[in-house]
Amino acid sequence: MNQPEVLLAIESSCDETAAAVIDCDLNVLSSVIATQDELHQRFGGVVPEIASRAHLSNILPVIDEALRKSERKLEDLSAIAVMTQPGLVGSLLVGLTAAKTLALVLNKPLVAVNHIHAHLYACQMIAEEEIFPAVGLVVSGGHTNLYDCRSTTEYELVGSTIDDAAGEAFDKAAAMLGLPYPGGPHIARVAQQGNPKAFRFPRTFIKDERLAFSFSGIKTSMRYTALGQPGAREEPLPLTEQRIADLSASYQEAIVDVLIAKCHQAAKKFGRKSLCVGGGVAANQRFRERLDELQEREGIRVTIAPMSLCTDNAAMGAIAWELLKQGDIADLDVDVTPGLVRHRS
Ligand code: KG4
Ligand code: ZN
Repeated sequence: MNQPEVLLAIESSCDETAAAVIDCDLNVLSSVIATQDELHQRFGGVVPEIASRAHLSNILPVIDEALRKSERKLEDLSAIAVMTQPGLVGSLLVGLTAAKTLALVLNKPLVAVNHIHAHLYACQMIAEEEIFPAVGLVVSGGHTNLYDCRSTTEYELVGSTIDDAAGEAFDKAAAMLGLPYPGGPHIARVAQQGNPKAFRFPRTFIKDERLAFSFSGIKTSMRYTALGQPGAREEPLPLTEQRIADLSASYQEAIVDVLIAKCHQAAKKFGRKSLCVGGGVAANQRFRERLDELQEREGIRVTIAPMSLCTDNAAMGAIAWELLKQGDIADLDVDVTPGLVRHRS
């Protein structure tokens, strides 16, 4: 019996080295992720040079493991997909160099994938029917971007944060509260014991007509509330377990309020009845509950990337099958496009 065709996808845009083997029916045969959290933890954020060096030592074992787990061989691959943008330049280069080498040696097509588009496509991978056209939100460590998704591969950026991303705001607040990096999951965990109404954090742009986000104000607000205002006469109250829980719950609620409001606003603006949400922050339980409520209340069909495909992974590189169908094959001299993607409004 003929087995379905398979491709290898590689991801190394930030601090996760990942490889996956996916067949043309979007079944993920293997998905291997080597995280670098421990290496960056003591710095409270990703150190680019450390990240690229770790990618270098991880990339081949990760690819090897992905192939082994999929029970396929290099010769079985129909294509090599790799995320070439956005991200850290040194990190992206490691994945791209590995992918180019494999494509050249195996004489197989190379597919260049946009990491943010892949986060949105992760939603299609679990959906029973076509979810596009849709409005898409990618909420990760570096991005809080809204897209008008016209088809499976045509995503137009229609709004973004003007400063920090939502994930970054979670990470920075966690550091202020003495919680480990990356902070999002830790804030979410302690928030379960807290009162979301205990503190009132700003909800920047929530009533603004623009599809823009800003999370730097809420970060400052957390600093002042948790650690005290510069020059203030009184000492801040001690950060007891309950206070940390209340601060986390209130902070999370404010961020989620803004994300929900902007998703709704974007869906209305573009007349879309389908919403897809991906990226690390989409793993947040409270956000997922509120998205369910939005679906019920507004009749918008919400598709959230499954937990395993929210944070960085290579399996979402399955979008490469769509690009292949369209003949979108990269030349071997394709370069990375590093940096952050921001909407200019
Ligand atoms: O998509 P991702 O893995 O990497 C980037 O492309 O940036 O997103 C990582 C971000 C981090 O900021 C992390 O704190 C956040 O996603 N995150 C969460 C949760 N899980 C991960 N934020 C809130 N709640 C979570 N459960
Ligand atoms: Zn990501």
